[in-house]
Amino acid sequence: MKGMRLLAIETSCDDTAAAVISEGRKILSSVVSSQTSVHQKYGGVVPELASRKHIESIVPIVTEALEQAGVSLHDLGGIAVTQGPGLVGSLLVGLSFAKSLSFATGLPFVGVNHIEAHLSAIFLEDHPPRFPFIGLVVSGGHTSLYRVDGFGKFQRLGQTRDDAAGEAFDKVAKLLGLGYPGGPIIDELSATGNAGAVRFPRSYLGKGSFDFSFSGLKTAVVNHVKGWPETEGGYSEGSIRDLVASFQEAVVEVLVKKTVEAARHEKLKRVILSGGVAANRRLRGRMKEEAEAEKLKVHIPAPAFCTDNAAMVGVVGYEYLKRGIRSSYTLNAYASLPL
Ligand code: KG4
Ligand code: ZN
Repeated sequence: MKGMRLLAIETSCDDTAAAVISEGRKILSSVVSSQTSVHQKYGGVVPELASRKHIESIVPIVTEALEQAGVSLHDLGGIAVTQGPGLVGSLLVGLSFAKSLSFATGLPFVGVNHIEAHLSAIFLEDHPPRFPFIGLVVSGGHTSLYRVDGFGKFQRLGQTRDDAAGEAFDKVAKLLGLGYPGGPIIDELSATGNAGAVRFPRSYLGKGSFDFSFSGLKTAVVNHVKGWPETEGGYSEGSIRDLVASFQEAVVEVLVKKTVEAARHEKLKRVILSGGVAANRRLRGRMKEEAEAEKLKVHIPAPAFCTDNAAMVGVVGYEYLKRGIRSSYTLNAYASLPL
């Protein structure tokens, strides 16, 4: 297996991504084709449009990944592909493509859980953590805390009871007419906003709980905006900046406190962040400050490997193929796939 090059494919939501990874760690190429322009005008991902776009993009994106890596199909040792959770129509495009390629080339293929892939993106970095560690996954579909003891060895400590953190960012941005996806826009606007302007509620769900809830916060933002006077030409930019910075602060504070508390509870000294929201500058900064104060070591992937990408799928795929684990052609895609 040493030196094995793997083709990895990710189509779980609205990004068509392919990567070539060597030895499960080294990125030879990582190509991500975003569908933002397709979904932007709807303020969210339209599943039917997403799967159609994946069909158009999959061949060019895989070809580009192979070209950038300077390899041909003959140089590969296997194929890894996201099997779920995600939008079934989107997942099926990548999965069917991977199965067909495996059938045509004889290369083994393995299905990968998207959440496990996010939690493993940290191994693409130069100094990855040793197991065990606490892993926070914060994306558009998930907000969960795990104790991670090894590849395939996860214990979920808590998860969101309603909205995912990324979903809350996207919904607040939509409410204010800021655009899609909301996370990066709010991140940017908040940099010059006053995070102490509005004291939004923080939901901790009782002492000792590692679950999350963001729907109350979202409602609080809606109610706050309802109280604003109607002004011609929309709300002032300053009040928008202060509002989103205050909202972001409430999300970040809960995420950081619960992650630190989980490390304390499990008596672990290492913490990793993953998922699209882990690209958030305030979250990255606050987590590092808090971890330092608590003598924890925090590892966060580069922003491009927090959001959806195929390289992280390759990390997991390599670990499984190395252990002789392969998927059969009857493998299905699943909208929800527990980890
Ligand atoms: O992991 P990801 O790319 O896809 C899913 O698996 O869901 O995460 C996408 C989510 C979106 O909700 C997006 O708004 C959010 O991550 N996001 C951010 C930032 N960049 C992406 N949220 C806050 N700050 C960011 N910089
Ligand atoms: Zn994701």
